Amino acid sequence: MSFPALAIDPFDEGFLADPHAHHSALRDAGPVVWLDAIGCYGMARFAEVQPALKDWQTYISGRGVGLADFAREEPWRPPSLLLETDPPLHDRTRGLMNKVASLASLREAMPAWRARAAELVEECVARGRIEAVDALAEAFPLRVFPELIGLREDGHENLIPYGTIAFNGFGPQNRLLRESMANAAAATAWVNDSCQRARLKPGGWGMAVYEAADRGECSEEEAYRLVRSFLTAGVDTTVNGIANLVHAFACFPAEWDKLRADRSLAKRAIEESLRWGGVVQTFFRTTSRDVDIAGGTIPEGSKVLLFLAAANRDPRKWDNPDRFDISRNAGGHVGFGFGIHQCLGQMVARLEMEAVLDALIPRVAAIRATGPAQIRLNNTLHALASVPVELVPA
Ligand code: HEM
Repeated sequence: MSFPALAIDPFDEGFLADPHAHHSALRDAGPVVWLDAIGCYGMARFAEVQPALKDWQTYISGRGVGLADFAREEPWRPPSLLLETDPPLHDRTRGLMNKVASLASLREAMPAWRARAAELVEECVARGRIEAVDALAEAFPLRVFPELIGLREDGHENLIPYGTIAFNGFGPQNRLLRESMANAAAATAWVNDSCQRARLKPGGWGMAVYEAADRGECSEEEAYRLVRSFLTAGVDTTVNGIANLVHAFACFPAEWDKLRADRSLAKRAIEESLRWGGVVQTFFRTTSRDVDIAGGTIPEGSKVLLFLAAANRDPRKWDNPDRFDISRNAGGHVGFGFGIHQCLGQMVARLEMEAVLDALIPRVAAIRATGPAQIRLNNTLHALASVPVELVPA
């Protein structure tokens, strides 16, 4: 073995409860490590993670971006036609979905999102002390995202549990996956039903995918699976994006003062929270050939775990990386991935966060932690169960 072998288990509950505390051991061990506990290679430094994400010919996604190798194991559901495919199929599905998830349609939605964010923040400020995950981070995406897709009116409470199952599904068959699977039936049935053409409202992104099928750009069955990608990836991610944003300001109160003094820093603050917070911690790739790297060789067909969140706090790349600093230019972070699989919904996420932040800035003088934030353990996401804060009115 030419790479350092580590006993660290990145899916151990102790690791998942505080991943950032373990990342330096991974990064410091070397550019590539062997993770004995899961029988995979790992990369945690920015200098290796970003190029690996970019090199889709070598680090492929079609054998799954979780621990399971689809060449050897049956996936728990039909694979995603975006996340879990390679070109040329990925070029076709991604091209089609890029047109559906257009910035123009988001710009159209933004005034309504701003109005909803203002309403929600006013309710929160009136309450003073809130639990920000429930009151803001979950409430806001659930008010706007179903409408964007054109989902039916009932059952939106299934969206977060479904995301939780899917993101646990990228890890091993541990307690977290078993428990989310045990409670999966209702959420999975609701999602399977809600992605059907007959269930979608005209004018939403879901129906726009079926209209692409009508034009012959994909089959009806592909359209169904592409709509499912919106539902899988579009909610638990933004919920935690917003939760991490509030948590960041609660941990670094001076940054809130800085933002209120100069609102033009809002976009930087959002990028910095995505870098610092590490919503999506990891994704796997599989090597399509023997790869000579860092003085060793990763054999063809190996699973490689890319630690996106560790790369985003790599001191070799970022100064004082554990500090949430909204003056920093965090552009180029890999919180949304990099290369051909870079997040399809990144503008949805950014605009949801922007709507919430812009509603908070004029109304809230200070965001004060009223207790410790609690983690909701997940195999892939840095998810927050609770962020208790006081919103001091402006
Ligand atoms: C803060 C929120 C979000 C974060 C941190 C995030 C993160 C990511 C990351 C890291 C990837 C790359 C996966 C890879 O390289 O294997 C990705 C891909 C993807 N994301 Fe997001 N995401 C977020 C929100 C969203 C939203 C709102 C949607 C849907 C509207 C979405 C849909 C997707 C899809 C479909 C892919 C697969 C793209 C492809 O393979 O071509 N994401 N996301």
